Amino acid sequence: MHHFHFLENTLLCEDVPVKEIAAKVGTPFYLYSHATLKRHFQVFSTAFSGIENLICYSAKANSNQAILRLFADLGCGLDIVSGGELYRGLKAGFTPERVVYSGVGKNTDEIDFALREGIRMFNVESLVELELINDRAGLLDKRAPIAIRVNPNVDPKTHPYISTGLKKNKFGLDAEAALDGYRRAMQMEHVEVVGVACHIGSQITEADPFEEALKSLKAMILELKQMSIHIKYLDMGGGLGITYADETPPPIEAYADSIIEQLKDLDLTLVLEPGRVLVGNAGILVTRVLFRKSGSVKNFIIVDAGMNDLMRPTLYNAFHAIEPVVNSHKELIVADVVGPICESSDFLAVDRSMGSVDGGDLLAIMSAGAYGYVMSSNYCSRPRVAEVMVKEGQFHIVKARENYEDLVRGETLPPFLEA
Ligand code: LLP
Repeated sequence: MHHFHFLENTLLCEDVPVKEIAAKVGTPFYLYSHATLKRHFQVFSTAFSGIENLICYSAKANSNQAILRLFADLGCGLDIVSGGELYRGLKAGFTPERVVYSGVGKNTDEIDFALREGIRMFNVESLVELELINDRAGLLDKRAPIAIRVNPNVDPKTHPYISTGLKKNKFGLDAEAALDGYRRAMQMEHVEVVGVACHIGSQITEADPFEEALKSLKAMILELKQMSIHIKYLDMGGGLGITYADETPPPIEAYADSIIEQLKDLDLTLVLEPGRVLVGNAGILVTRVLFRKSGSVKNFIIVDAGMNDLMRPTLYNAFHAIEPVVNSHKELIVADVVGPICESSDFLAVDRSMGSVDGGDLLAIMSAGAYGYVMSSNYCSRPRVAEVMVKEGQFHIVKARENYEDLVRGETLPPFLEA
């Protein structure tokens, strides 16, 4: 359940009519419900309360300061993949001990930043990275807490672009290489082995892939025990899917129970890195219809949001439900909902059956809280849109709409082009 609902044919976010926000803020804009974000975290956290845990929200899903602060205040930790995310996280109030750092391409500056701050754990994805972390920690006179990210070769049955736990993916190390990594890490002076990590993919809507991954991680932990390597943290990553259309992902409680059941006899702290499941259905993208256009084979609804604002349909062929912000029960049509960008891949929906709309109408692109704004760009010199958060009948702009000056900020003319 989320807090976007219709009352007398008008879409509300909590109790605020979306059309009123649009009138004041302009379109397009992302809109987040505070109550939904809070409840999603609480449901997740309650589901895992039967086991020692650290829930590290995956910043990449949505790293707006207001969203990060909200989760930090609720006692959440943070999963990061870059120095920029560490910066954002610290600024929003996460303490470094609640931060875990994954990613195949951490650079020296980023590693140093994380070492200086004293994060909880580096999830190491290659042997060269392990050596680099050891070197940098030595130079900074630190000891880096590390987990090795194991690639369990499990098929998460999701879109190939967001599957990460297969042998052919660039992520983590297979079991044998991981064991070798642990052996080497134990000899290193400036790393401390504290965990085993994995993340098999995103938008996973079945329970089996998680169970399979957990089995291989358990086997790894037992092998490590035999090598007298005792770890504190088992990081299961993120990946639990949400309902965009008719997917039926396991409920959070079932997902949690099956993990807890398998871990109950191991004395470990469970780390999780949920992203989409916390924020996906807590946000929408509101856009205005500019024109309607009928081709000989298609109806086009041209809206003011494009692929640069929400890239998921273009990149993954992802489905997002589209609702009228004011439902006037017009006749059904089949149409492509497209943006103003000069590419045929600029669509938000293809062959969608929906209520007819006219120029000026508002549409809500649903389930856009995760991997929406964060993946947006300035392509075609389109200013990035505003982000708004509603809490208890009030709305707040949490990211101003960019203007034309923002578009050229930082660009300079070399001397030979100056007048
Ligand atoms: N941990 C790691 C190491 C990750 O790489 C990811 C996501 C997460 C946690 C969070 O996964 P989640 O719980 O959100 O599934 N842009 C794509 C999704 C890419 C996910 C990348 N990694 C999309 O729009 O579907």
